Amino acid sequence: MTQRSVKAKKQTLPDADFERHAQQTVHFFSRRVPPRLREALASSPSGTHVVDVGCGDGQLAWALMETDSLPPRASFLGVDISPVRIERFQRLTKWPALLANGESLTEMPDAVADICISTMVMEHVSDDEAYASALARITKPGGMLFLTTVLRKRGAWYFRKAPDGRRVLDPTHVREYSSVQEVKTILEDAGFQVLQVGSDRLVFPILVPALRLLNAVWPIPNVQYFFLRQPWAMMESLGLPIPRYREIQLLLRRRQGNPQEGFE
Ligand SMILES: C[S@@+](CC[C@H](N)C(=O)[O-])C[C@H]1O[C@@H](n2cnc3c(N)ncnc32)[C@H](O)[C@@H]1O
Repeated sequence: MTQRSVKAKKQTLPDADFERHAQQTVHFFSRRVPPRLREALASSPSGTHVVDVGCGDGQLAWALMETDSLPPRASFLGVDISPVRIERFQRLTKWPALLANGESLTEMPDAVADICISTMVMEHVSDDEAYASALARITKPGGMLFLTTVLRKRGAWYFRKAPDGRRVLDPTHVREYSSVQEVKTILEDAGFQVLQVGSDRLVFPILVPALRLLNAVWPIPNVQYFFLRQPWAMMESLGLPIPRYREIQLLLRRRQGNPQEGFE
């Protein structure tokens, strides 16, 4: 296994805090579907089974439905560690959802997913190698994984702090990756072949914190749909670029075989 520059730090938030964070941080909906994921879905056959690990409130599932991005007769399973988010996912999408830890996914059989999605989750898990292995186990050989995570380049700065004092983009981040290679190595070691890599800038969304604060004091009905309404839709992407932070996006294919027996 390749040496990694940054070893995983243990999760620093106790479970109750994690759940309180889920209660307080509603995910907002948009119709944006990452182009690499849209292309992977477009080339998938009818009846494709999609599993979204760390599905959150279901915002990506919702965007895929709204934009007709799923193949005909596709099935979709949302998986998350947070009961609050699972409940929101099911209420929104009406698709099945599973409360499970993405680092083991013991509740799921091997090779069930034609397409596995896991966006902005890897930086949250305690053991990213176990998480990558679990994603590989549930993805069919030849199946695809679309994954995004955070890239923190040298000199990156954000105003938030984790409970242990580290400056982070989100207080529930266990780690933030300092290179794309680091992420690729973990996923390759788990049994994936990298097909495409890209990155996007990350912005501080000016209206989101104000809206969350307002919602905490004075609940706004269907607040998660706020940016779908005019004139707010135009302001959804209004934000300040976050210095030296980016989102890494990877499209990968599950190789035949497994790490113990060697890959083909
Ligand atoms: C930043 S949100 C991303 C949500 C969604 N995937 C998206 O891109 O908008 C991170 C999500 O990962 C979930 N999560 C964190 N650790 C997890 C784990 N070990 N297993 C499964 N889900 C986890 C959180 O509950 C949360 O819903």
